Amino acid sequence: MKPDIKLTPPGPLAVDILKRDSRVVSQSMVREYPLVLHHASDVNLWDVDGNRYLDFTAGIAVMNVGWNNPGVVRAVEEQAKLLSHGAFLDFCSEIPVKFAEKLTEFLPEGHNRVYFSNSGAECVEAALKLARYHTKRKYFISFYGGFHGRTYGALSLTASNVIQRKHFGPFLPVIHAPYAYPYRPFGLESATCDVDVIHYIKDQIFGTEVSPEEIAAIVVEPVQGEGGYIVPPLTFLKQLREICDEHDILLVADEVQSGCFRTGTFLASEHSGVKADIVCLSKAIGGGLPLGITVARDEIMTWPPGSHASTFGGNNLSCAAGLAVLEILQEQGFGEKVLDKGRYLLEGLHRLHERHDLIGDVRGIGLMCGIELVTNRETKEPARDERGRILRYAFEQGLTLLPAGASTIRFCPPLTIEKDDIATGLDILDRAFAKCEGI
Ligand SMILES: Cc1ncc(COP(=O)(O)O)c(C=O)c1O
Repeated sequence: MKPDIKLTPPGPLAVDILKRDSRVVSQSMVREYPLVLHHASDVNLWDVDGNRYLDFTAGIAVMNVGWNNPGVVRAVEEQAKLLSHGAFLDFCSEIPVKFAEKLTEFLPEGHNRVYFSNSGAECVEAALKLARYHTKRKYFISFYGGFHGRTYGALSLTASNVIQRKHFGPFLPVIHAPYAYPYRPFGLESATCDVDVIHYIKDQIFGTEVSPEEIAAIVVEPVQGEGGYIVPPLTFLKQLREICDEHDILLVADEVQSGCFRTGTFLASEHSGVKADIVCLSKAIGGGLPLGITVARDEIMTWPPGSHASTFGGNNLSCAAGLAVLEILQEQGFGEKVLDKGRYLLEGLHRLHERHDLIGDVRGIGLMCGIELVTNRETKEPARDERGRILRYAFEQGLTLLPAGASTIRFCPPLTIEKDDIATGLDILDRAFAKCEGI
């Protein structure tokens, strides 16, 4: 449905709640604009003052099957009457088991053992512990621009914005490598941006910093999310896989943001034909309920009883929601539709690129797309303030968008979005750029 803005947000009810929020709630989150939600349905959000928005955020790639998907709501309602907290740590119940059985149908062969947690950070934390337990090695490699969460292990990997790390160290022993970033290549050549990073890992990291036999895992986002929706060359992951195979290092794919058909395949790593050793999933897999998943092969997930667990891991409500999500995702042709709509979105963004100098780069795969804003296409100076103004103007016109990286706008709508809604969003964005550029 198209947006319907009855009064410019924030309206009086939103202002009141925001004031109360500022008095009692930790203000450590970043909110790009003052949206106070009341309810949601599929691709639309309503604020407390009755304004309707078209949503291009999916709550940061969470509501892939649409906000308040009726199948998910029904599954949660029914499960809530039976058993919510199943005390999975101490007692077994069928819903988490059913969920795990179903999930493995979507995963590469052999990925048949599931560890349950409650968030993206927690499922990454589990991956780190598992990698250390399995390899008996201490170090990790992750990437600049990477975001893996904010608990200590996950934050040690994260290097996307210094405010997230400032005053929180020291961290785990993680070495950061440049990401294969075609628009801002580490080796200055887009065409070889992946090969240059691989050389850096082999020559600089292995040659001068840490011997590969001390590295437990390389942790990578197949498409970088918070770092700016960066799609690396498909060969990047393959080359990381080769390094890992050569040195018995585990490859961990953090698919928390890129998973669940966000890029048109269940896992984004499928585009490269690469099978990671450990896969992390969260966000969309719970359909709006907290659910973290760490998956590995039997021979890797050998940690013994008592070595890792959490009170809410395997929560019956989250797993019932997750099961409903998987049933929706298994609909014939779901991934192809995402790819088709993603191409439509990208074409529209390329048209905006032709019209607006502020857009330096357009990129994406499936419905994980981004535009990087620059003040000058030659120098590629990030257009941070302009991005803020555009997001704000779009919001006031009823389009919700999110930033990523220094000056990227990300597009991660519910995967259920239709092309006419994509077109509506692009029109609003076009006007937002025109206004910002004073056209
Ligand atoms: C790739 C990736 N990993 C991990 C996380 C952390 O997830 P959470 O915020 O649920 O802890 C995020 C969150 O945005 C993410 O994008």
